[in-house]
Order: sequence, then structure tokens, then C-alpha cells
Amino acid sequence: SVKSVTPPMVERRKGGTPLVCLTAYTTPVAAIADRHCDIILVGDSVGMVLHGLPSTLGVTLEMMILHGKAVRRGVEKALLVVDMPFGTYEESPEQAFRNAARLVAETGCAAVKLEGGVTMAETIRFLTRRGIPVMAHVGLTPQAVNSFGGYKVQGRGEDGERIVADARAVAEAGAFSVVLEKVPDALARRITAEVPIPTIGIGASAACDGQVLVIDDMLGMFTAFRPKFVKRYAELGHSAEAAVAAYAEDVRARAFPAADHVFGDGADMSSLITP
Ligand code: KIV
Ligand code: NA
Repeated sequence: SVKSVTPPMVERRKGGTPLVCLTAYTTPVAAIADRHCDIILVGDSVGMVLHGLPSTLGVTLEMMILHGKAVRRGVEKALLVVDMPFGTYEESPEQAFRNAARLVAETGCAAVKLEGGVTMAETIRFLTRRGIPVMAHVGLTPQAVNSFGGYKVQGRGEDGERIVADARAVAEAGAFSVVLEKVPDALARRITAEVPIPTIGIGASAACDGQVLVIDDMLGMFTAFRPKFVKRYAELGHSAEAAVAAYAEDVRARAFPAADHVFGDGADMSSLITP
């Protein structure tokens, strides 16, 4: 079997070749990501990307477990991290441990991710001391959208010190890495230089120790909105639209199914086409 990436291996990559991370929510997409990524994140972005929710606030532990199990089946080598959804960890370290343990036990992920800095440090310490590696997430933390009043850049000007303190606190508490979302480039550079664990940027800086994107964003499959930090590497949404339109046209014109797609009486005909 292929040796898989572990949280300590990720932590040792500080300052090295950038860590490559993408989200995944399904087995086949996870299998593609696994061939190229160091880390695969089952993000609570799944709620917006695949379930049509208006924010990540309605995502449940059950949704994360279902998608976590699906992704696990597609992953052989990358480190699998599953997001803790809103309301499953903020109350107490004990609540966080109980729910993180379910994610680990039921999905087979090796680590969990949760949002928050100074406020969540005690919880991060509680989990890491009890065998659950934690990836932290500071800067724009989407589960706090109502407190922020929108998905705004965080840490501009003097507010930068707050994000620095958050990043320091999660590193000190034992997180093996930290996602830095939607903060100024210079701030992300400074935090990357000052904290001892790898920073994984999204809308942050090329100087981070790694990068993460939501896979449906970079594939052009999620198009409801497009943050500035998303680089589109494909336009699968357009391809899918054109394919569905062509199918509809074929069906209405009785051009599909064609001779290739229907069965004769011969016993020798296989019903499967090799890929
Ligand atoms: O939910 C998610 O996809 C995330 C990443 C964008 C970091 O938290
Ligand atoms: Na998330």
C-alpha cells in the first residue's frame, strides 16, 4: 500500500516546497485530487458548493461524515482532513472532542479543521493532546460571517495584529498547520515568517507554506459567485451546460440513442464498453 501523508509530515514541510491542498466532496473527484495533492480537505464549503445552502452555517456533522466517507474511498496517499461544522465544537473542548472523534472514527480522516484563533486555542490543545491532530483556520472564518457582516478581507491595518495573535495562539496550542483566508498579502507573509507551523493560504499570499482552493471553484463548476482569489483552471460548468444542451437536442431529434447505444438479439453483445 502507498504510504500516506501524515500531520507530522505536513508540519515538517514548513518553509519547504509549497503544500498543495484542494477540497473534495466525492469519491471520483477525491481520486483525481489524490494523484496531485498533499492534503485533501472535506470542507464545510460542501454545503454551499453541492447542497445549495446560502452559507456554511447550515452544514451538519452528518453531512461531513457522509462526504468524509465518500472522499476517504478515493484517497490513498494524501492527508485527509475533515472540517468541523458550525455548532459542533465552539461550546467546549469536550463537545469538540466528542464530535471530532466521530469524524475520525466514522470517516477515517487523520485530522480535523476548525475555525478560530485565540478563542479556540484551549480546544485545539485539548484535541491535540488526546490524539486528534488539528488544522486551524484564521483570518476570514466563514462560519463567523454574521459577526463580520459579510465575507470581507480581514486584518487590514491595525486589525492585522489580531490575526497575528490568532495564528500564534493556534501554533502554540499544537495545531499542525493553519489556513489563512482572505488577508492582505503582506500580513500573510509576516505570519508565515513568524509562526512555526505551515500556513496554507486562500486569498492570502504566494509566500504561504501551501495553498488551498475549493475544487469546484477552480474547475469552474461552482459559478454562483467568484471571489477574486479564485483562479479558474477549467470551465467545467460551461462544458456541462453545452453537454446537457446537446443531449436535450439529440433526444428531441431522436438522434440519441443511435445504433451504437441500442441492443440487438445476438448473445455475443456485451453491454459494457471498456473505458
Ligand atoms: O470549507 C472549505 O472549503 C475551507 C477551505 C476553503 C479552506 O475551509
Ligand atoms: Na471550511
